[in-house]
Amino acid sequence: MAIAILFSSKDPMPWKEVLENKLQEEVYIHPVDHHVQKDINFLICWKPLPGSIEKYQNVKVIQSIGAGIDHLYIENTISKEIIITRIKDEKLLEDMYEYVLAVILAHIKNVNQYHQDKIISRWKPISYKRIEDTAVSFLGLGYLGAGVAVRLQNIGFRVQGWASSVKHIQQVKTYVGDNGLQEMLSSTDILINLLPLTQKTENILNRALFSQLNKAYLINVGRGHHLVEEDLIAALDEEKLIGACLDVFRDEPLPADHRFWKDDRLFITPHVSGITDKHSVVTQLIKNYRNMQQGKPVDHMVNLEKGY
Ligand code: GLV
Repeated sequence: MAIAILFSSKDPMPWKEVLENKLQEEVYIHPVDHHVQKDINFLICWKPLPGSIEKYQNVKVIQSIGAGIDHLYIENTISKEIIITRIKDEKLLEDMYEYVLAVILAHIKNVNQYHQDKIISRWKPISYKRIEDTAVSFLGLGYLGAGVAVRLQNIGFRVQGWASSVKHIQQVKTYVGDNGLQEMLSSTDILINLLPLTQKTENILNRALFSQLNKAYLINVGRGHHLVEEDLIAALDEEKLIGACLDVFRDEPLPADHRFWKDDRLFITPHVSGITDKHSVVTQLIKNYRNMQQGKPVDHMVNLEKGY
């Protein structure tokens, strides 16, 4: 039994080092020698290229090193016997919270506007909002959504959230269903998307949803495929939205000629809101590997029916 790391667009070497230090056995990097291939049962993946997972015929567990698993592109292509698992990590949650908090405060205190004003030496005070007057709504109340929601609630924001099933989260008003979504959106200053990407949630940030907002600010830290890009521009033109912070995109890196770069209403970051820290997650990766070896259940297993 052995582990292989299968990454595209991320350097596997530092991960190999951290894992080997703890595990005291060799960790392989894809592509592995032909004679080792059959020994690999545990694959640690980030955006594996199509067709690469299938090379490992004895895989039992695929471990995503992200909170999401959509990057695995596994639909219908690999055996249903294979267990898929993902990361739940306190540091990742804390990083996501700090990112979202920074963006919200920059928005309600007009930091981006003053940055633009400085370029043209314009002195123009703008009214600002307080934390206690700001209604923050979440799409998605999973590990990250609920965790960030509670943290924002604790520092005084008015927080609510919508999820596909009923949730009970301390002090956070929660909604389900289409009516619930409508009710939540009608009283939203900041809308944060932290949904998993599934067939049901793809394109959910669309014109119909935006039409229920009024001068809100969008923060998309879910996935680029949640957002219908032309509907975002229309919602900004109609002032359903007065700005957006986008950390994720349909095409990453965002192409240099993409219209989003030139739009002053958009604040763009290069998918950095929560980056898995290898030192923080190495213990859960090794625990899952050991559990697999001993025939025990792994942690944070994904329900493939639901897609998260
Ligand atoms: C990053 O986007 C993740 O899935 O953790």
